[in-house]
Amino acid sequence: MTEQRKILITGGAGFIGSHVVRLFVKKYPAYRIFNLDKLTYAGNLENLHDIEKSPNYEFIKGDITDAEFINRLFQEKQFDGVIHLAAESHVDRSIVSPMDFIITNIVGTVNLLNAAKMIWLNPNTQITNPKFYQISTDEVFGSLDQGGYFTEKTSYDPRSPYSASKASADHLVRAYGHTYKLPVLVTHCSNNYGPYQFPEKLIPLAINNIRNSKPIPVYSKGENVRDWLYVEDHALAIDLVFHKGNSGDHYNIGGFNEWKNIDLIHLLCNIMDKKLGREAGASAKLITFVTDRPGHDLRYAIDSTRISNELGWKPSLQFEEGLEKTVDWYLSNTEWLEHVTSGAYQHYYDQQYHHR
Ligand code: NAD
Ligand code: TYD
Repeated sequence: MTEQRKILITGGAGFIGSHVVRLFVKKYPAYRIFNLDKLTYAGNLENLHDIEKSPNYEFIKGDITDAEFINRLFQEKQFDGVIHLAAESHVDRSIVSPMDFIITNIVGTVNLLNAAKMIWLNPNTQITNPKFYQISTDEVFGSLDQGGYFTEKTSYDPRSPYSASKASADHLVRAYGHTYKLPVLVTHCSNNYGPYQFPEKLIPLAINNIRNSKPIPVYSKGENVRDWLYVEDHALAIDLVFHKGNSGDHYNIGGFNEWKNIDLIHLLCNIMDKKLGREAGASAKLITFVTDRPGHDLRYAIDSTRISNELGWKPSLQFEEGLEKTVDWYLSNTEWLEHVTSGAYQHYYDQQYHHR
């Protein structure tokens, strides 16, 4: 018999969450997939327009920082799995407004842990094989110099309000696993890129600015290094860890794909020149070096050997291929981009859901 599960995915209207929701809704017709999202500036239900009518999908508008609401929701729905992606996710915003990050990323996570504990550790409920899966980041490990990688044994050393809030949440997830024997999983992924990423992050911001012939802001001299992974490869890793990972496990996820920001931007400029039919070198003229981010981490690099060896995961796309695919997506979805940059996407919920 096909297994039936009731899975709560938080932050499913965001960038990575929307890919995870789509994958699970399509791949597991016998599951019920609940997408809980507050629809902050980063949440966009247009990301899910293709699957929103699926019979195994339900959207719930709500805030993970509201403990009473979260408790009621868990009591009512009796989820047997939680994949927790809801978060404030942008480092630059965390430098300006750290408290939003503390409240959503830390308090919100504890509310979910408490609600899961309340139903999963209750001897009167009959939930088999529950799992609480925290989607974390490699940024909790701090910054690397030129050599070495983050492994699962690397100590936490967060250095931005964003990464410190994610690290705190991870510690609480692990503490609930240890203290209450709540079945928890944690993964640390490197920088994601791909369709539906909000154009405040480097790659979609640069694509949008090149498209509009606006300056591409590169912090400092562009020497900082990030390790990039195509978002659908991350979603596939999440599927694998959720189903095959054992309680208490944690894995690093990354594609051994390090790029200096400036080299990445030059590659992107070359792709954009070709796609837009501009003369070679035209887009690179838009590169503008700007004041550095305060406390800017120099380098992130993930060693993903464990998830490859133990679960057989590996990324499917080469970076050049993934970047070209991403550019193609943004250039053929200019309506999405324009809705996002104009704010029109924020009316989608009222139009599609409120009057139903
Ligand atoms: P995102 O900013 O695109 O999406 C976050 C989503 O969470 C949005 O839909 C937003 O509306 C929702 N949300 C925010 N506050 C909420 C609240 N209080 N209650 C309910 N929903 C709320 O983020 P993303 O880039 O898709 O990242 C998703 C997760 O993956 C985050 O936990 C992030 O830390 C982690 N992560 C991201 C990356 C990356 O490169 N983007 C890499 C590794 C890990
Ligand atoms: P970002 O996409 O914000 O992800 P993160 O800070 O979580 O790694 O930034 C990726 C890199 O690009 C990071 O080194 C900061 C840099 N950056 C710029 O140079 N210019 C920009 O406008 C942005 C948003 C980022």
